[in-house]
Amino acid sequence: MQTKFWQLTTENRAQVFEEAGALIRAGELVAFPTETVYGLGANGLDGRAVGRIYEAKGRPSDNPLILHIANLDEIYPLTSGLSPMAVTLAKKFWPGPMTLVVPKSDIIPEKVTAGLDTVAVRLPVNEDARKFIQAAGVPIAAPSANLSGKPSPTTAADVLTDMDGRIAAIIDGGACDVGLESTVIDTTGAVPTILRPGGITPQMIEEALGKVEIDKGLSDPSQKPKAPGMKYKHYAPKAEMHLCRSEVTMLICVTKDLAAGRRVGVIHTQPIVGCENRVYRSLEELANKLFYYLRDLDRSGVDVIYGLTVPEEGIGLAIMNRMKKSCGGSIL
Ligand code: TXA
Ligand code: MG
Repeated sequence: MQTKFWQLTTENRAQVFEEAGALIRAGELVAFPTETVYGLGANGLDGRAVGRIYEAKGRPSDNPLILHIANLDEIYPLTSGLSPMAVTLAKKFWPGPMTLVVPKSDIIPEKVTAGLDTVAVRLPVNEDARKFIQAAGVPIAAPSANLSGKPSPTTAADVLTDMDGRIAAIIDGGACDVGLESTVIDTTGAVPTILRPGGITPQMIEEALGKVEIDKGLSDPSQKPKAPGMKYKHYAPKAEMHLCRSEVTMLICVTKDLAAGRRVGVIHTQPIVGCENRVYRSLEELANKLFYYLRDLDRSGVDVIYGLTVPEEGIGLAIMNRMKKSCGGSIL
């Protein structure tokens, strides 16, 4: 399959969205930008089209997908009913990097929910994403547009690397703003529960609702995560990766590896001589660039990547969740 690559300009926007929307209605896959990461979109009401997402990504079939909408009202046909907490969260944080798990309605194909009786829904803030969904005229089922297991793509070029020849088209709307996937919140129980940490932090949810829980399956390996996707190996660069609890540990490891002739990449607040350096100045910048840096360090051909742990609060919770998976839990 020849994959179309559309770089959005002021002149071609309307035409691109129209053609992309037509591809979606014809059951094809189109990758598109959102504020979090690039999504791999299909018609969320067409089970066959949704099935193609799993094929293109090599995604396990028990991992359900998020339905993306362009306006708040569009959630109503997708759910059998919203809890008051879901309404409060939707009004406060949509459009934005938040996904709500709600009871599903009958129109949703089983392929979207992987057999669960709930469905995940998100209203993105990215203008290109919303124009695309509007043009398609249907909810868009979309996971991150990477091959299963790899870091999520935050640029259209990274989508092309993984999906060239596998999907009908890619819409290039530039680099993503947040850089990590949305916060997934289960709103079907008594207390709002974070199933995947992201840009909307526990503190923000607690402020809005007075209560919040974090799924125990995220921190306790003996408990099964409630979001099926969180149990899989994820975000792994090709290079070996480790996290260091201190700079001293990092320097000791780096020195040893360089002496052994290995090529070393570091994701750090300051450069280290002899390494491929990817430097960040704030946790927001780290969140924004983490996936990009992992892919970029792989491209530069390093053998091993070292990163530093960060405090697991605020956006740091989401960063650590992704970094721990990237390094397969190797924390030194
Ligand atoms: O930011 C994002 O959320 C991006 C962009 C494209 O919107 N999408 C994304 O999708 O990250 P994906 O498929 O990579 O991750 C969706 C997560 C998975 O962990 C999945 O298991 C969980 O959401 N999920 C989906 N439906 C669910 C449900 N009904 N109950 C619990 N977890 C669900
Ligand atoms: Mg993903």
